[in-house]
Amino acid sequence: VKIYKVMSCFSQMEELQKENVYIKDAERVEKLLCQLIQDGKSKLQIITDFDMTLSRFSINGKRCATCHNVLENSSLVPESKKQVLDELRDTYYPIEINAKMTIEEKIPFMMEWYTKGTGVLVECGLKQSDLSLAVKESNALMRDGCDWQFSTLHEHKVPMLIFSAGIGDILEEIIKQHSQMYANMRVVSNYMDFNHDGMLVGFKGDLVHTYNKNEGALRNSDYFTTLKDRRNIILMGDSMGDLRMADGVPNMQHILKIGFLNDNIEERLEKYKEAYDIVLVSDSTMDVPNAILKKIL
Ligand code: TMP
Ligand code: MG
Repeated sequence: VKIYKVMSCFSQMEELQKENVYIKDAERVEKLLCQLIQDGKSKLQIITDFDMTLSRFSINGKRCATCHNVLENSSLVPESKKQVLDELRDTYYPIEINAKMTIEEKIPFMMEWYTKGTGVLVECGLKQSDLSLAVKESNALMRDGCDWQFSTLHEHKVPMLIFSAGIGDILEEIIKQHSQMYANMRVVSNYMDFNHDGMLVGFKGDLVHTYNKNEGALRNSDYFTTLKDRRNIILMGDSMGDLRMADGVPNMQHILKIGFLNDNIEERLEKYKEAYDIVLVSDSTMDVPNAILKKIL
């Protein structure tokens, strides 16, 4: 009975039949889903990106803010610095999403973007106490269904690693304002370093950018070691760099990779279909991951 239930679940899941859902190898995904369902929640862990994966890409045709954009667009940053940050984004974002360049070719540019960008933020005299208002006034939003996903994963004690090249302090504040930070969540990101007056003086630890998440994953292998019995992974991301977020997981058995393709769609669809098991094009919801979780939990 169990096998029957499992084998038919793929075709039964109407969320997977929608037009914006691309699955290159349906047989593999069917098998993977079967396995994840059979092994159940005690073997599961979630590894996810934040910006444009948990957070929303756009609303009514207008781009939503990334962690960095929350600050860039706020009144905390003077006009002259905004201009510098805009110029940096116009230079480097097209490289981030370029379909022709390899990850290795992109890395030096991402390093440049992040180093220059964080340098400018430090020059702005940002205060820790201003961050909450900056998030409130921004249009940073979570995908529909994140709130359900977070509370359900917490209820079922499934660990969730949020691995972000954004800004840790800002992403936690976005989550708090639109949902809740739970005990089963762990964030690896760029955290701000404030002095005793609460003034931003730099960033802590090693820089996480979009394409070095593999190094970060290996640095955080202690986290994965404590979860060594959770051999099944659901990975969610919106960038090719996010595929490396699980590189530090020992004894991984099964990994289901779900990719959100938000921008530069036609140029990147083929690559995304190769790399991600399930590709969700211009989807502002968590419907597909949540439907899968409902089967497993
Ligand atoms: P992530 O989603 O891979 O964690 O990356 C964070 C996003 O932040 C990535 O899409 C690039 C973006 N970003 C900005 O919007 N402004 C910036 O100044 C920087 C450095 C990054
Ligand atoms: Mg992202």
